[in-house]
This record gives sequence, structure tokens and C-alpha cells, in this order.
Amino acid sequence: MLSRLGTSGSAVLLISALACVPAGDEKRPAGAGEKPDPFAASSTPLPAGYKGPKYAVSHDYPTEAPPAPNDPPWRKALNGAPIGPDTAVAYMSALKEYVTKDIKTLVLDYANWDAGKARWYNMPWLYSIQDPVHGTYPAGEFPSSMFPLSGLKTPGDATMNTYVVVYYNDTAGYTLGQIWGKDAAAPDLTKAQYREGAIVVKVCLSSATRATWGPMDGAALWDVYGVPPNAPSGAKPAFFQGSVFQVDLIVKDSKTAPQTGWVFGTLVYDKSVPGDAWDKLIPLGAMWGNDPDVNSAANPNAILKQSVVNPVAPLYAVETLGYGGRLSGPNDGAVVQNAIVDGAAAPRVAASSCLSCHSTAEWQMQSFLLPSPSAPQKNRSPSPDVTSDGFLYVYKPGTVEFNRWFQNRLGNVPKDPGSVALDFHMNLAFKALPLWAKATQPSTRAERSERSDPALLLKTGLPPRMHR
Ligand code: HEC
Repeated sequence: MLSRLGTSGSAVLLISALACVPAGDEKRPAGAGEKPDPFAASSTPLPAGYKGPKYAVSHDYPTEAPPAPNDPPWRKALNGAPIGPDTAVAYMSALKEYVTKDIKTLVLDYANWDAGKARWYNMPWLYSIQDPVHGTYPAGEFPSSMFPLSGLKTPGDATMNTYVVVYYNDTAGYTLGQIWGKDAAAPDLTKAQYREGAIVVKVCLSSATRATWGPMDGAALWDVYGVPPNAPSGAKPAFFQGSVFQVDLIVKDSKTAPQTGWVFGTLVYDKSVPGDAWDKLIPLGAMWGNDPDVNSAANPNAILKQSVVNPVAPLYAVETLGYGGRLSGPNDGAVVQNAIVDGAAAPRVAASSCLSCHSTAEWQMQSFLLPSPSAPQKNRSPSPDVTSDGFLYVYKPGTVEFNRWFQNRLGNVPKDPGSVALDFHMNLAFKALPLWAKATQPSTRAERSERSDPALLLKTGLPPRMHR
């Protein structure tokens, strides 16, 4: 089924991401019978003789919370005005400026990048999906039809594949330490709420380069060591390169974003901007709410009040904006190709946004990332709502069901009753917790449902099996 899905657009992003979660043998750095090391970098060994830089999980998390920023530069950039069309790009530019010293080194000068020294941190438990050079893991597969206006070339059924790595600043790293403790054996989800000033950065690579996608001309190129994109099954790891084309930057700032607590923004590569490959990463926009009051299906021209898109953003990056023009980036899969909406095939539906998708971050996850009847972890099935032809059922935009994905909530209120809200934190909800559960917990259905009862997790902070 997955290979058939390979040609069907953004459904692939979600299903292939889920596919790493359910049963199946996974490689671990530890030998059989040994305890896995949650902080291992990668289960893929580099070839003998490799001399270049390597990824290591930065996990010496701060044990004292850094003080909340008083008047941080991103808020100063608003000049006392609320965030909006006139100020959102300046806000994102100030946030970019703030992380530049460190993240520019990560992006352009990896040999000199020392995450621990710079006080940036990573998530445990991702070794089975991470590459050993940069710690990136596969995030999406997009056919050329996803970017019809900007000339992405993927021959035949091939896809442009994307890879990501996530870094947390010291304030966010403090929360990671609170969740995972020293040994990352038993997450405490009562501690999963971030403090003011938490910043999370996600660097996204595209397997497309100048030759296959013009907009990538001049982008920073990263080495990845893993199974190359579109390789036949069973293919061996090899080195390949990816273009750094999107850098997500999110910040906990409840003053600017009182309804959600977060400003979500992203930078995209624009080859027409002067400077180096870091200077050329410009804000695509920002959002701080889902505009629940705007029914964009009924009023397609209604103006959004909680999403701003940079009017000079490059064309390829605005081809995949979210529902009603809400913010989403080219790596994010907000556009579903081959959807079934209201019983009929729909070729291209803008069905998500940054905050819409991230608002499903809870444990256990009961809702699919996109507005769809699928229920990922509850059924432990990659997606019961994808047909064998690779179509994804999507609720009709603007309906009551669909709009449940476009509410504004704070990060401590779960989307679905009975789950624990994880403050919009997808890397935790969708990647680390499922991989932790898979590595540490027995797998009969009864035991799984007992252990994953969120009420128990909340009460004890530990799943019953580990609570001695
Ligand atoms: C359709 C779903 C979806 C959309 C839309 C989406 N994301 Fe994400 N995001 C994810 C998933 C899933 C992860 C976990 C890592 C991964 O698998 O890529 C993630 C991870 C992240 C992270 C790392 C921290 C975390 O929460 O895990 C950041 C930062 C981020 N996204 C920012 C954004 C921004 C900014 C946008 C909009 C421009 C956006 N995302 C749109 C699904 C989405």
C-alpha cells in the first residue's frame, strides 16, 4: 500500500510518518537483549573511514529554568502594536536575528557546530529514524504535482523527499529535561508545558537540488547518510544531499498570542534575495491562531486575522499554503492530493495549517493530523481511512467536523477529552512517545491499552509497567 501511496501526494507525508510507529523490527544501537540507549544518535553506522562531522544528541538539559525574557527582541519588533499584517514579518525577522549566531553555524558551518556548548538540545528516542551525520529523519514525500507552478521535476512516480532535524533552545531544553529526566525511561507528561521564551527550530531539507527544482539554486546543501530517496526496497544506506529550504521557528509568547500561547512562523529559501544561503532564508509568514471565526469555505475571500503571509515570499512556498490561506510551508503537507470529500474525489484540498495540525499533539493521539475520521494510535493501524488506491477521507471544509481542527486552545487543553495535551509539540506526540513506547513496552493489545491510558500516565507520570 505504501508504494501505491507513493504517487498520491501529501497523504504520503502522514502515512509514511506513521509507518515508523506500529509493529515491526527496528534496528537499535544496542545488541539483542540489551537495553536501548534513548540518547543514541543513529542506528545507521557510518562507513568505516568516515572522517566528517557526526550528529550527537544534545541532552545535558538545563536543570534550572532560564529566566523568562523580559522584553525580548521579537516582541520589541512589534513596537507596542499587536501582531498583525504590518508587524508579523518584522516579528519573524527579529526571531531569526536572535537565533542567527547559533543556527547559522548549524546550517552553514556544521564542522564548527557544538550544540551543547551553544545550549541547544535534542529529543531522545529518535535513533531508529535519524541519520548519523545531521540527525535528520524522513518527513515527507511529494510528487511534482504538489508544486505545479514552480517546476519541480520528479521523473515517473518518483517523489521529492524531505528530511528534518529539531533543536530546542535552553528554555525549551529545560522542559525536555523535566519531561524525560536523566535517563529518558519514563516521560512525565504533567511537565510537558513550555515556558515563556521557549524557542524550537526545525531545519527541513529537500532532496531536490538546482537540477530538479529551480528555486533550490544556491541553497545550503547538507549530507545525509541513509537509504536514498526513491531507492528500491532493501537498498543500502548511501550519502546523498538535501537543500535546506525551510526553517521553522516557533516561540512561546503568550502576550503576543493569548489564545494559543505560541507564534508559529517559518523561513523559506528565496534564491532572489542577496547574501549567503542563510541570509536568503526569509519569513514565509507567521500565525498565532487558527481564525476559528473565519469560515473560509463559505467565504473564500474573507481576510484572516491570525495568519500573515509575506507578500514577497517565493512562489514555490505559497503553492502549499493551508486552509483559506492560513500559514503552512512547502514541507508541511497541508495540501492533500487525492482526497475524498463528501463522497467525491477532490484532487487538491488545502486542509490544514501549522497550528491546526499541531493542535492534535496529545497522548494518546486520538485525532488524525488532518481533519479526517482516521484515528492513528487508537487503532494502531497506519490509516484505516486511506483506500487501497491511496485516497484519504477528509471532512468537508467549513463543516462542523472540519472546523474542530481550526479551534483556538491553549496548549494544556487537549483536542480530545481523555488525552493529555502536549502544548502543540508534535515531535513528542507523533515521534518520540510512539518510539519510546515501542522500545520499552510489551505489545499485546490489552497491555498496550492499559498502559497507554492517559489518566494513568497523568496520575503517576509513569506507565503502570514502569511504576514500581
Ligand atoms: C499536517 C501537519 C503539520 C503541519 C501543517 C505543520 N506541521 Fe510542524 N510538525 C508536524 C509533525 C508531524 C512534526 C514532528 C516532526 C516531524 O515528523 O516532522 C512537526 C514538527 C514541528 C516542529 C518541531 C517542534 C514540534 O512541535 O515537534 C516545529 C518547530 C514545527 N513543526 C513548526 C511548524 C510550522 C511553523 C508550521 C507551519 C509553517 C508547521 N509546523 C506545519 C506536523 C505539521
